[in-house]
Amino acid sequence: MRFLILAFIFLLPQLVNAQKKTIDQRLDSVLRLMTLDEKVGQMNQYNGPWSATGPLTNDDNLLTQIKEGKVGSMLNVTGVARTRELQDLAMQTRLRIPLLFGQDIIHGYRTTFPIPLAEAASWDLEAIERSARIAAIEASAAGVHWTFAPMVDIARDPRWGRVMEGAGEDPYLGSLIAKARVKGFQGKGLGNTDAVMACAKHFAAYGAAVGGRDYNSVDMSLRQLHEVYLPPFKAALDAGAATFMNSFNDLNGIPATANKYLQRDILKGQWNFKGFVVSDWGSVGEMINHGYAKDNKDASMLATNAGSDMDMESRSNIQNLAQLVKEGKVKMSVVDDAVRRILRKKFEMGLFDDPYKFCNEAREKEQWNNPAHLDAEKDMARKSIVLLKNENQLLPLKKAEGQKKIALIGPLVRSIKEHLGFWSYDWPDDSTRITSLWDEVQKKVGGDKLLYAKGCNINDSSKAGFDEAIAIAKDADIVIMSVGEARDMTGEAKSKSNIHLPGVQEELIRAVTAMGKPIVVLISAGRPLIFNWTVDHVPAILYTWWLGTKGAEAIADVLFGDYNPSGKLPMSFPGTEGQIPIYYNYYNTGRPATSDSDRFYRSAYIDFSIYPKFAFGHGLSYTNFNYSSVTLSSKSLKGNQKLTASVIVTNTGKYDGTEVVQLYIRDMVGSVVRPVKELKGFQKIILKAGESKTVLFTITTDDLKFYNNDLKYDWESGEFEIMVGTSSKDVKTAKLTWNK
Ligand code: BGC
Repeated sequence: MRFLILAFIFLLPQLVNAQKKTIDQRLDSVLRLMTLDEKVGQMNQYNGPWSATGPLTNDDNLLTQIKEGKVGSMLNVTGVARTRELQDLAMQTRLRIPLLFGQDIIHGYRTTFPIPLAEAASWDLEAIERSARIAAIEASAAGVHWTFAPMVDIARDPRWGRVMEGAGEDPYLGSLIAKARVKGFQGKGLGNTDAVMACAKHFAAYGAAVGGRDYNSVDMSLRQLHEVYLPPFKAALDAGAATFMNSFNDLNGIPATANKYLQRDILKGQWNFKGFVVSDWGSVGEMINHGYAKDNKDASMLATNAGSDMDMESRSNIQNLAQLVKEGKVKMSVVDDAVRRILRKKFEMGLFDDPYKFCNEAREKEQWNNPAHLDAEKDMARKSIVLLKNENQLLPLKKAEGQKKIALIGPLVRSIKEHLGFWSYDWPDDSTRITSLWDEVQKKVGGDKLLYAKGCNINDSSKAGFDEAIAIAKDADIVIMSVGEARDMTGEAKSKSNIHLPGVQEELIRAVTAMGKPIVVLISAGRPLIFNWTVDHVPAILYTWWLGTKGAEAIADVLFGDYNPSGKLPMSFPGTEGQIPIYYNYYNTGRPATSDSDRFYRSAYIDFSIYPKFAFGHGLSYTNFNYSSVTLSSKSLKGNQKLTASVIVTNTGKYDGTEVVQLYIRDMVGSVVRPVKELKGFQKIILKAGESKTVLFTITTDDLKFYNNDLKYDWESGEFEIMVGTSSKDVKTAKLTWNK
């Protein structure tokens, strides 16, 4: 037996090699059989006829084209029945090359998880990985092979509606989350029936679109690109992301879709990416509008030569690529490389061996209502909630408050669908399987003492409902208000110039607050909103994002103390749109303002604060955490030594709680200007009331590295500040020197 095990261990690398070889050999033999038209077909992706997530091109006889081998992949086709129907057509082609089915599984499929930005607020990598895992299990059971996620775009501009899809503003947190999501989606690896291919998108720098306007241009230094915007992509790749999606924006004048520097030099060159790149919806053809391509033919040539392998929905490849090869404008070797990359993934997914591998009705049924998934969703939702403010410990509400009258006011109190957010799926039984806040508060305290008034709609100007809301507030002992955005207000193509709480909702809060009752405001939204009056006058505020299927339960648990919140903001919250872009890891200026009264010829606004309303990393708990000063293992280090920084964190409050202890570093003087602080580590710890824990961070010279003016990634000798604290704004600092 021992011998057998040893032999197996010894032979394993060869077996793996043989397996690889087999795929390579099989790839070669398929490629040898393929005509040019069949190759081009593989580089073409169409939207399914049942739903669309972008502007449709009307040609179609789509189904005939599949039979003719003109389609390599479909998007927006889900369900075993439909995917089987289309795969049947692919099986009628000459070479029986299976179709790949791609879908935006952004935050869950049947079970809707919190929007990705909300999940990022949990700073809980395990929970985030689990969320992606469950999404993959459910989607793959419904015939999906490939998710267009994770979106790993760094976002410093909450006017941009797509902030909801990512992990916020920080490259370090963003990289860890990118990795967790890729691992979750791809599970134990491609080839397992419950693994879907991940797709890191949008490559690259889409989050920096000018003015926060979707699809807009991006102009940035290469140093900033490498330091801030690329790290999460590299992390996704290192975690094994099977595919990448390029992007709608141009980067420094070259559309990302035809950007050779991004796709060939960095991604497929320096990073040695072996998967394939899909364009964004229509982005190949849209280069005509950019003024970069003359026509679709030109666009297909530019995109393909620059490393874009598959054309999503612009029809530029299918209509022109074969001709371009014949004219010598695109080399056959370039097409072969793209097709090889695409087919390799089809092999790795096991689709050549069984094209119907993901078409299992029994599994689809089994995963349709999986209670364990709902439990995980509730856990994720609770972890995502951020307690922004809690004066005089108004929260948590006591269950005994059931004896008192509670007024529930606001347009989101009874809503069900809004909590699902953008990029989620509607199912026919949603209204019976998903509960509202009203339902869940009733469960906590009983219905007889609850009052309800809507007060106003989410986004219109009518105040007709104010009187009723005021009347019940007068009658109640406590008021809970549920306000925010509708689910289609933040997402793709949902850029906003005004990110204040929409409609007259903040006026409603003012009117109700005037009744002088203890008041808790819940804000549900897909992005950081502005609600300054509320921040300044309401004692307790919870940011509840869009939390998914079990969102209302999660909120009620937090309101009544069945869960102590621990979320931390993954984006800075501005106090006015004029501060945007606003982020914690900025460069100091030559005239930094030290406070809002320090304005005389300073880098400040004469009409507004320079500080965010809520800082990156901010988030309270029902208990209090006290931080000791930072102890360093040494104040003077040399070369590749390691540094340990430690703090003692004590739970000084009445409740057990969870804290995210954050580590920031500042390089005091550099050959290029360095940010005032950069997140370099964090630990999520649980402390019982009264308990203390020593939290240790090991810091190496890797944590000091940055891109210098020659784009060389290295560290420099000098002085550093090590900061540890509860948010980017509230830290304890220690200094040291570290020399080469
Ligand atoms: C979005 C992508 C998405 C694609 C397919 C595009 O409009 O930018 O993120 O994956 O549509 O739905």
